[in-house]
Amino acid sequence: MNQRLKVLIVDDEASQRSGLAAMVSAWGMTPETAAEGNEALQKLNEFAADVILTDLNMPGLDGFGFLKRLREGGDMPPTIVLTAYGNIETAVKTVHELGAYWFLEKPIQPSQLEVLIRRAGSHAELRSEKRVLERNLVYKGSLGEMVGMAPRMQEIFALLQQAGPSKACVLITGESGTGKELVARTLHALSPRRHGPFVAINCAALPETLIESELFGHEKGSFTGASERRAGCFEVAQHGTLLLDEIGEMPMLTQAKLLRILEDSKVRRLGGRTEFEVDVRVVAATNKAPEEAVSGGHLREDLFYRLNVFHIHLPPLRERKEDIPAMVETLIGDMNRKHACRVTEVSSEVLECLDRHRWPGNVRELRNVLERAVILAGEGTIEVKYLPAFLQSRPAMAGVAAAAQPAAAVAAADDADEVKFQIGTTVEEAEKGLILRTLAHTRNNKTRAAEILGISLKTLHNKLKEYGSHELGIGA
Ligand SMILES: Nc1ncnc2c1ncn2[C@@H]1O[C@H](COP(=O)(O)OP(=O)(O)OP(=O)(O)O)[C@@H](O)[C@H]1O
Ligand SMILES: [Mg+2]
Repeated sequence: MNQRLKVLIVDDEASQRSGLAAMVSAWGMTPETAAEGNEALQKLNEFAADVILTDLNMPGLDGFGFLKRLREGGDMPPTIVLTAYGNIETAVKTVHELGAYWFLEKPIQPSQLEVLIRRAGSHAELRSEKRVLERNLVYKGSLGEMVGMAPRMQEIFALLQQAGPSKACVLITGESGTGKELVARTLHALSPRRHGPFVAINCAALPETLIESELFGHEKGSFTGASERRAGCFEVAQHGTLLLDEIGEMPMLTQAKLLRILEDSKVRRLGGRTEFEVDVRVVAATNKAPEEAVSGGHLREDLFYRLNVFHIHLPPLRERKEDIPAMVETLIGDMNRKHACRVTEVSSEVLECLDRHRWPGNVRELRNVLERAVILAGEGTIEVKYLPAFLQSRPAMAGVAAAAQPAAAVAAADDADEVKFQIGTTVEEAEKGLILRTLAHTRNNKTRAAEILGISLKTLHNKLKEYGSHELGIGA
């Protein structure tokens, strides 16, 4: 840090305050002092501390209350807690629960304190750079990778910035493809844990028998087939963020165990004897209304309240169509990079077509449409002919639009329950069209799509591989 570090010292003992202040000055930093929490909060209005040192036991607002208020303020400088000798447990608790940066036992070793303040100071510097960056991004209608000009998206960005840096649970709801996972990743990126792992587990994709071992891990021999000890998601996500996707699909018994972990941050592997501490920020997502999942008996009420500290609801794309132009621009940029294309824009007719559609698959559907169009166009302007047929037809012409469409077009009704083929379509093209359309209908749920199509999951995977659908963002 180029400028002098500003250090606020909070201690009720005058001799401690002046001693610490003298030390801090001698290290080339600027000290300020306060005798208890309220005074400290007041001082912070004028003195933009990079680092705070605080005692815990003080008359007036004590260290715990002070930390809480700092955290509620949302913008907490790294805070080092000074504790009495032998009070390690309280200290660790303060760091975990109240978000303190670290703790030091009294009597304080000056060299230790100096290292710690400098380390906390560089942490603070990173934070402020990041804040400037984030402000700029919001201003341009995006936050990280998320695009959103619509007022409801801007509100979500503000909430993300508040909730991101904390360890609080966040419940993310919204239809399929609205960006729930992206929100979870953005929360992670905005948190001090961003250098730690981001782990996502989809509760709907795992059989009930495996979900607990995936989540909590298991010891060798804990059940038939457990031939090795295995770490669970909580361990893998240590010091990072864990996304529990489709939380309403988690078995009720597992939900009870999850709740306990959220309460006391301790995990025991299946078949394990000891518990160990985990430091994981948990976020959960669901595309169903959580209140209904609770009343329907699929989601424990107590777990719902525990997860719902912050609630972020993503509106469907059809309710924020003003975001489409900006999203198109960003997504075209992504696709150009991914496929080495040089597309510059979309024609105004294309924008009209995109604006007319109801987007049942939300942003994911828009992304897939644009990916295909970018590949087909290769460079320059995306014209209407590069859109899938179901987007090309004007509402009045729906059903007769065939003549104007490319030979292999597969037209489908907007709301997806109908697929039409033109004369001139080959069996192979028709099969591909039907498969992709069915996948879009099941929101890319391959098991369901295979069921509807009456083919095995393996056949479906093979077909997708054949189409190079991985390239098309469908994922074989
Ligand atoms: N606001 C946004 N800006 C840019 N891209 C977005 C936005 N929202 C979503 N996307 C993109 O759309 C795609 C789908 O998003 P994501 O996977 O997060 O949806 P989801 O809500 O988790 O869907 P599902 O319920 O099916 O799991 C991703 O490629 C994501 O990057
Ligand atoms: Mg998802």
